[in-house]
Amino acid sequence: MKTNINVLGIETSCDETAAAIVRNGSEVLSDVVSSQIEIHQKYGGVVPEIASRAHIEKIYPIVEQVIQQSGLDKGDIDAVAVANQPGLTVALIVGLTAAKTLALVLEKPLIAINHIHAHLQSAMMDEKNLHLPAIALVVSGGHTSLYECKNILELKLLGSTIDDAAGEAFDKVASILNLPYPGGPSIEKAAKDGNPKAVNFPRTMLAKDSLDFSFSGLKTAVLYHCCGQDMKGQNRVEKMSQKEIADIAASFQAAVIDVLVRKTELAADKIGAETILLGGGVAANSLLRSELEKMAKQTGRKLLVAPKKYCTDNAVMVASLGYYKYKAGLFADMTLEAKAGCED
Ligand code: KG4
Ligand code: ZN
Repeated sequence: MKTNINVLGIETSCDETAAAIVRNGSEVLSDVVSSQIEIHQKYGGVVPEIASRAHIEKIYPIVEQVIQQSGLDKGDIDAVAVANQPGLTVALIVGLTAAKTLALVLEKPLIAINHIHAHLQSAMMDEKNLHLPAIALVVSGGHTSLYECKNILELKLLGSTIDDAAGEAFDKVASILNLPYPGGPSIEKAAKDGNPKAVNFPRTMLAKDSLDFSFSGLKTAVLYHCCGQDMKGQNRVEKMSQKEIADIAASFQAAVIDVLVRKTELAADKIGAETILLGGGVAANSLLRSELEKMAKQTGRKLLVAPKKYCTDNAVMVASLGYYKYKAGLFADMTLEAKAGCED
């Protein structure tokens, strides 16, 4: 096998158009992310059709840009990895079509990447001394799941949300509080001036040993707190002081993080994991990072989490995981489909 393997990664699962070239799984040669946040902001969330059109406009210029930035010739690319699931089908299909075309033209293998696994890869990619099995927590806009990570390519699902994902709860609560989309960073910013004990929001743990999550009760509790149980106070939020908004944001954030940390510890105990992996957009949250770090230290474990810029959607994580699939000879063919759900 060649000494250097250069994988081109493509990511278009939601509202970021991204491409990157990563050498040998960890050396980032180039990395471009074009966010559509401004386009979707006025709708308060991602509009799939608009996302798809924006990906079509951006994907080829971005691929050209990453090839140029990497200093490589097109022929130096050894494989094309693409996130084909889970996500918005109309968005995924754009990256997938671009990846298939590139693989055909360059005569290089196509590699299918699960976006959720890729989020975890961004936590592992710089670690030279990886102790597995690990407990892996993925917290994004669409998923909140705990996995046992047996090796880089093998994840076993242990639990997931039965209703809203953690990121989705952040986004919805931000919308209740009239804070801008995306809600996670807005809530985190507002919470900085708030008291996390101001409101005692519920911590839903489900059955005693359950590793599943539920955040819809918490979201409803915030809604009732703001608008009243009869929903007659819908204009009340507009009249709230900044301090009151900050207190609600901080109390909500504390409740989500409390549940995430407690369930992760429970899962780590169950499988005797020495390592905890954290990935996905919500992993950019400073309080979640510090509370998990605290728990990891107290229980003698090591927490691995990606730098903040690789927590939200990017193509470095796709190209990095692509390298390991390349080494294992796990290639896809031209029948590869985009899938909304997480099928494998
Ligand atoms: O992984 P990601 O970029 O896209 C999906 O795969 O869903 O995650 C996006 C989610 C959004 O719900 C966003 O509000 C949340 O991650 N998020 C955060 C923070 N930054 C992004 N949530 C809490 N705190 C943050 N700092
Ligand atoms: Zn994501």
